[in-house]
Order: sequence, then structure tokens, then C-alpha cells
Amino acid sequence: YLLPPPSSDGFIQCLTENIPSDVIFTPGSANFTGVLVSTIRNSRFLPLANDTTTERLRRPICVVTVRDASHVQAAVRCGRATGVRLRVRSGGHDYEGLSYRSVRPAEAAFAVVDMAGLRAITFATDGELYWAWVDSGATVGELYHAIGKRNTGLAFPAGVCPTLGVGGHFSGGGIGSMMRKYGLSVDNVVDAKVVDANGDLLGSRDAMGEDLFWAIRGGGGESFGVVVSWKVRLVRVPSTVTVLRITRTVAQGAVDAVTKWQHVGPTLPDGVNMEVLVQGQQAVFQSLYLGTCHHILPTIVSRLPELNATAADCKEMTWLESMAFMNFGDTNTTALLDRSTGPNFFKNKSDYVRRAIAKRVWLEIFTNWLAVNGSGQLILEPHGGFVGAVPAGATPYPHRSGVLYNIQYVASWSAGDDDSSSAAAMNWIDGLYEFMGRHVTKSPREAYVNFRDLDIGQNTVVNGVSAFRSGKVWGHKYFGSSNFRRLATVKGKVDPTDYFRNEQSIPPLLQSN
Ligand code: FDA
Repeated sequence: YLLPPPSSDGFIQCLTENIPSDVIFTPGSANFTGVLVSTIRNSRFLPLANDTTTERLRRPICVVTVRDASHVQAAVRCGRATGVRLRVRSGGHDYEGLSYRSVRPAEAAFAVVDMAGLRAITFATDGELYWAWVDSGATVGELYHAIGKRNTGLAFPAGVCPTLGVGGHFSGGGIGSMMRKYGLSVDNVVDAKVVDANGDLLGSRDAMGEDLFWAIRGGGGESFGVVVSWKVRLVRVPSTVTVLRITRTVAQGAVDAVTKWQHVGPTLPDGVNMEVLVQGQQAVFQSLYLGTCHHILPTIVSRLPELNATAADCKEMTWLESMAFMNFGDTNTTALLDRSTGPNFFKNKSDYVRRAIAKRVWLEIFTNWLAVNGSGQLILEPHGGFVGAVPAGATPYPHRSGVLYNIQYVASWSAGDDDSSSAAAMNWIDGLYEFMGRHVTKSPREAYVNFRDLDIGQNTVVNGVSAFRSGKVWGHKYFGSSNFRRLATVKGKVDPTDYFRNEQSIPPLLQSN
């Protein structure tokens, strides 16, 4: 059935009758704005006083800071009954802010379900294998810290930024500095708990069925339900790992080094992940190796002599320390628990490369795109190894065999910058993305759902549901055509009336499509 016309009062009333009032924040509550902005990671979307632009925040009618799965269930049931949709937020990193804002005037009545208070982490083992149950509101930094403090021989493959929310990050895949050895986060998820569109708690993989379990592991957040908790398989790491960071300027041969890296990064031994951060007139080659410096150094020297790597470029530490070091430049692991972030204004886009980009193009990138006003950063993440060996249909993440690397374009500016700085940064990323179209994957031009970009397409709603046809435009880029169709089929089964939806949610594939 389709939703009734929205009743904000009815929704709040229903919540009040079903969950503790101290988890319900309405615009009248003293802490409403503080709670709402608590994990808005992209300052572009922070509310301004008297703001009327759609770019920023369309305010929700309330924020529910859930502490228990039953609170999530109540929010879904009340929302269905009173015509109020939900936006679900775990860590708040969505690049387009879709976990707390709606771009659509038609869906003005929505509430935010904030998972940050639902963040327990518990461990299990059979003596040989180790698992953790982690709630969606935990950050990856909290997960890393809990694992590393418990057992220095264990770890989990996920993104580097410690404030990433487990809920959104895992929902979209989770690429990180151990993926060449152990795959994405979702390649290591073995069970989950989901609240579905009826408000029922599906407490295990068996209860939800294999199709839904497949879809939540990379099909993008919020299309299928609210994932409350994930069971992950922990991976083994040695007691010493090595971080190797080498900077090459254009004058020192950065163009040659990046050109060659395209072949080397994806074919190094699986235990080493060498990403490249390209900015201004330099490239930083940052590697995490699961082992000691003297084991990996000869390989790097022989495969990429352009870097002139020496033992002085290595820093050995524990895996947990490396997670802190790669973020903060020091090994203080307590910092992984810090949920605060400074103001960050950014716009990101992504591409995948399957055929190495020619040296003359890299030269052009450095000369024409990285030495201009508004220029930002390119982050190159090597694939190959384990992440490339997983079949494209095993999870919704299709960018597997044959992918050399992912490119993330980052345009950013500061709070004090005037409008012309943000305009220059936005022009830069749009122009570069257009230029790169000739040099990256085509038909589809692949993109990573966790690097969400509304410019590549948005759903239109036809007869009350998101249209499959409009979803294909962006969906084939994120998931490939067959994974996208499978996701839409699962959506058609578990949420045929499209309760869980946003501008880029999976549309239900129904008979009439
Ligand atoms: P947020 O809470 O904003 O949720 C993102 C999406 O998932 C939204 O659509 C939301 O509704 C949905 N969602 C959230 N919780 C849900 C739940 N429990 N159930 C169902 N749906 C849910 N990515 C990566 O792969 N590797 C990396 O290294 C990085 N690094 C990185 C650094 C920084 C600074 C940023 C801002 C982002 C990244 N990312 C990344 C991208 C990141 O993985 C992506 O933004 C995730 O969606 C973030 O998850 P959060 O829970 O923090 O976001």
C-alpha cells in the first residue's frame, strides 16, 4: 500500500507512545540543532539561519537517537502509519548528505533515525576463527580500537578515516588499505540484523534470506531496511606492519612514477597496498604492508625504482597504530575513538581505471588541472589481489577482475573561503571529471556508491515509487547492469511500495516496470 499523506504530529505522537521520550528530538527541543548537526561531516550541508536554499539542509521533523533495535522498529512502524519517511544516519559521511537531508521538496516530511547511540561491539571465537558483532552506529575507528586492544594479531579491512560509520560504510562496500589481501569490508561480513519495511527485526542471515543478505552487502545504504548490526570475520595480521610514505614532486619524476604505478600497484604482493595521493605538483605514495620493512623494501625498490625507496621511508608499528598513523601522522591509537571532526566543505566524484592512462595524459593532469585555482586532490586506490579475485556478482560491488584502480576526485574549500573559492573548486571537479571521461571506464562509466555523487543521476518517482528506468542511469555505474537488476528485484520483494527511498535508492523492480 502507498503511504498516507504525511502527518508530522501523528508521527511524533506515535513515537511518544512507543519509545522513551528522551530519544525524540523535535525542532522545539533545546538540543534539536545540536543533535541534528552532530555528525554532519560535510559542512556544505550545515543549516544556516533563515536558510531557504535546497543545497543545504531541509530540516527533518525530528531526530530519533535510537539506543535499541526496538526504537528503530517503532520509527519504521510509526513512519509507515503516518506517512513520514526516514533518513537513516550512522556516521553521517554520505558525500551528498542523504542520511540527514532530502533534496526533494515532495518529501519534506521526513525524520532522521540516528544510529550513533547503537554502537556495541562484542567478540566471538571458536578458538581458530574470530568474529565480532558490531552495531551500525559504531565508527570504524572504534571497531579497530576494540579489535587491536583485544588481540594485536587481529584486524578488520575497512576505510582509513576513523569516524566512518559502520552502517553506511559497510552498506556501500568498504574499500580500505587491506583490500588487496582481504577484500572489502563486505567480503568479510557473515551475518547481519535488519529492520525491514514492515518494522520487523530480521535477526539473522537465515531470517532475511540470501537475496536480502546479498543486497545489504554493498547495494548502498537505506534501500532495503535499517541494518542494526553486522557480524564480521576478523582477519589475521602480523605483530609488526610497515607504513611507507614517499613523496615525489613533478621535478623529481612524479609523472613517470604515477604512470608506472598503474601497473605496479595492482600487481604487488597482496600484503601491500600502495595508494597514491595526487595534489598540486606532487604525488604521495603511501603503502601499508602487513610485515616488516626489510621484507617488502626490495620488492618496492625493484618494481618501482622511480620512488628511490629506502629503509628511512619505512615506519614499523602494530596494525592498530598504523590505522592512527595513516590518519593523524602519529601512533596515538586513542585518537581513533574521537568522533569529532573539524569543518570540511567538499564535493567528490569517482572513476575506475581498467586500462592504464598514458603518460602524456598524466602530464596534462599535472599541468592543466593540478596547477590551477580551485584544484583539489586525486586519490588512487589499487585493486587486484583478493578484491579483484571475487566474482563481480558475489556482492553488489562489481568493480573486481580487471580493475587497476579507483580514482576519487576531491574538491574542497575552507569555512573562511568566499563564494568564489567554492565555485572554483566545484568548477574544477566538474571540468576534470569531464576531461577524464575519455581515459576511464566507459559504458558504463563505473563509479563507487560509497563516493556518492548525485550528478550521475537521480531517481524520478512515478506512481508513488522510484522508477526502475531512472535508477538504471546511475545504478549501472555503481553496480553494473546485472547486479543492479538483482538489487531492484530484491527491493521489489522486500519493499515493493518503496518506503525506504532517497534520491539514489534502489527502485523496486515490479511487474509493471
Ligand atoms: P551516513 O550515516 O551518512 O550513511 C551513508 C548512507 O548509508 C546513507 O544513505 C544512509 O541513509 C545509509 N545508512 C547509514 N546507516 C545505515 C544503516 N544502519 N542501515 C541502512 N542504511 C544506512 N569509503 C570507503 O569505502 N573507503 C574509505 O576509505 C572512505 N573514506 C572516507 C573518508 C571521509 C572523510 C568521508 C567523508 C567518506 C569516506 N568514505 C570512504 C565514504 C564512506 O564509506 C561513505 O560515505 C559511507 O556511506 C559512510 O557511512 P556513514 O555511516 O558514515 O554515513
